[in-house]
Amino acid sequence: MDIRFDNKVAFVTGAAGGIGFAAAKIFAEAGAKVAMADINEKRINEAADSLNCTGYDVLPITLDVSDEQQVKMAVEQVVSHFGKIDVAYNNVGIHAAVRENLADTEGWDFDHVLAVNLRGIWNCTKYELIEMKKYGKGAIVNCSSQGGLVGIPCIGAYNASKHGILGLTKSVALEYARQGIRINAICPGTCETPMVKHAIEMSPDHMARVIDAIPLGRVGKPEEIASMVLLLCSDYAGFAVGQTWAMDGGYTVM
Ligand SMILES: NC(=O)c1ccc[n+]([C@@H]2O[C@H](COP(=O)([O-])OP(=O)(O)OC[C@H]3O[C@@H](n4cnc5c(N)ncnc54)[C@H](O)[C@@H]3O)[C@@H](O)[C@H]2O)c1
Repeated sequence: MDIRFDNKVAFVTGAAGGIGFAAAKIFAEAGAKVAMADINEKRINEAADSLNCTGYDVLPITLDVSDEQQVKMAVEQVVSHFGKIDVAYNNVGIHAAVRENLADTEGWDFDHVLAVNLRGIWNCTKYELIEMKKYGKGAIVNCSSQGGLVGIPCIGAYNASKHGILGLTKSVALEYARQGIRINAICPGTCETPMVKHAIEMSPDHMARVIDAIPLGRVGKPEEIASMVLLLCSDYAGFAVGQTWAMDGGYTVM
């Protein structure tokens, strides 16, 4: 199966590193023009340079996905530069502070995580759909988590946001299926990314428990998630609508 995205435009958020960068790279390798967006201006420019240097056609964009106006402007920038958006991977997510229990958490922490992880996906999906509706074709993958499928102690806000993404994805997928736009969600398990490196530094005991519980006996690679995103955005997944795809080494099977 040779998945190609020649003459297609992909939009990837949170693309400065981790899974988002791996997704931007695999779309570029498959022939797509790629708009790479991230809140970190320096790192997204460096990430885009690293791909443009090797001959790919990528556009760096700085945005905060929790800000609806910035997302609207970012989508307009992609369309003005590349002419359209065919596929989108809404990847941005942040980890909540790990607390022993909910009574020790702060309301602002919950609000911030929900604003980035859930409202951010709503913002991106909305403006991507406005574009895709014009051509009557498109595919969107939203990034949830293994924490969107099962309870994990000490990260209630993160898990609430990731469960919410699945509900949003299913409902919007039903709204747009007959308009030629497929929307699915992916649930990564623990992968080697800057987010997980930071989580291990901040909460070594919690992360050791999560990693020990992976049936496959190892953490995932960002490329292993990115390849599933590529497949779901391709016509090979043309009958997949509103589904949730766990890529977690078996974590949520037990
Ligand atoms: N890595 C894992 O183990 C894991 C597990 C389950 C789910 N996920 C999910 O996968 C996605 C990617 O995870 P990762 O580990 O690669 O993360 P990461 O922290 O390594 O990368 C996330 C990127 O998003 C950017 N970002 C953060 N806030 C932003 C904002 N408001 N607007 C725009 N960009 C912003 C960051 O600058 C960063 O480049 C997230 O949604 C995460 O919740 C990851």
